Amino acid sequence: MNQKPTDLTVNDAKSVTFSPTGPLSGRITVPGDKSISHRALILSALAVGKSEIRGLLEGEDVLATAAAMRAMGATIEQDDDFWTVYGVGVGGLMQPETAIDLGNSGTSVRLLMGLVASHDISVTFLGDASLSKRPMGRVIDPLSAMGAEFTARKTTNGQSCLPLTVRGLCPAVPMEYRLPVASAQVKSAILLAGLNTPGITRVIEPVPTRDHSETMLKGFGANISVETDGQDQRIISLVGEAELQPQNITVPGDPSSAAFPVVAALLVPGSDIVVENVGINATRAGLFTVLQQMGGDLRFENQRTVGGEPVADIHVKHSKLTGIEVPAAIAPSMIDEFPILFIAAALAEGQTITTGLSELRVKESDRLSQMAEGLMMLGVEITENPDGLVITGSGGKPLRAKADATAIKTALDHRIAMSFAIAGLVSETGVSVDDMSPTETSFPGFADLLASLQSGAQDTAR
Ligand code: S3P
Repeated sequence: MNQKPTDLTVNDAKSVTFSPTGPLSGRITVPGDKSISHRALILSALAVGKSEIRGLLEGEDVLATAAAMRAMGATIEQDDDFWTVYGVGVGGLMQPETAIDLGNSGTSVRLLMGLVASHDISVTFLGDASLSKRPMGRVIDPLSAMGAEFTARKTTNGQSCLPLTVRGLCPAVPMEYRLPVASAQVKSAILLAGLNTPGITRVIEPVPTRDHSETMLKGFGANISVETDGQDQRIISLVGEAELQPQNITVPGDPSSAAFPVVAALLVPGSDIVVENVGINATRAGLFTVLQQMGGDLRFENQRTVGGEPVADIHVKHSKLTGIEVPAAIAPSMIDEFPILFIAAALAEGQTITTGLSELRVKESDRLSQMAEGLMMLGVEITENPDGLVITGSGGKPLRAKADATAIKTALDHRIAMSFAIAGLVSETGVSVDDMSPTETSFPGFADLLASLQSGAQDTAR
């Protein structure tokens, strides 16, 4: 592993090999937070007047949300270093002329289904092969109770999937809904439907999920309250028929993107990097806690608040990691970070045990089986259970691809692609990833940023 920095090798149109590297160093920033970027565009498009957004993630998923909001009447313009949105006001969405294609973006489709549900319009949503397999019943059920009507494609096992058409009802019927799955997307869909619904819409969360919708709705002037009851459930109440005031928003760096250089620096001997301006909201920062518990030298420096969200510069040094049992309760605060945690676990000393992760099977891919398959090809000892993986790490020894290993299959999943790219940096002979193009959904410039850390360049992703 103590070879000179090696550039990645592009094998064909899409497949790329990531090779072992020398120490990583430098100060970098990662692109803006994906969850916050979607919400910033949507709420700005519903405010009355002009909002400005700085640090917006210009990835395919967020651009799909922008295009959808334009198709429903908002004016959204890109300037040099900020975006301007002229909103139509709550209740002001217009009938789009054609079906809306949201590509790979589950957050876009689920949040926009909520938005359309309480408007007097009918919208057909389409997606790519990955998004078209993902379950939509979890959003259809509560939104149907509010009065919206849905026609969705049914899979052979009775699951409702894209393409689907939502026919909104205005006025919709307010309701109280207890989330049956820990899902910020379902919570946000219901709250967005509640914005244009008379009366109080209430969501009860038995397990806390990312709270960007609540924080941002408050920032835009909605009448929203969050209480915690005796059983630690969060009760979110939103008064409908809101009038939202335009805002200037600054989006912090995405902790889910920072996760990749952070784990890379922990794993590659001699590394010492700083990832600046990363969101560390407690509902998102579970991975950083787990990595510290595994022995990772990872510190939050220069902690501050940006746009109502806690932010820090994360200073990471190479560390010897030890496997742990990851408590299932922490899963919602690191739900997108398990693929890269599994790579860290593969290099740790001893066993890492994860449970309570059946939700990972319905992300952009079945992340438990994709990760297990890829790690097995890299010779990692692994057990795949229905709701988690048990991984026995190499104790820091570089991963060695099996003789018959083929390129890792990313299955249109950006986080699988980036996780195995990091695995390549700590392998004996490199790791080939069959398709790096999905990284454009959340982390444009990912490979260049990695290369800048390899050459120690002081570079930025924005
Ligand atoms: C997101 C919520 C999470 C996460 C997704 C983004 C959001 O999904 O996996 O990448 O922005 O609300 P679930 O709500 O389905 O857990």
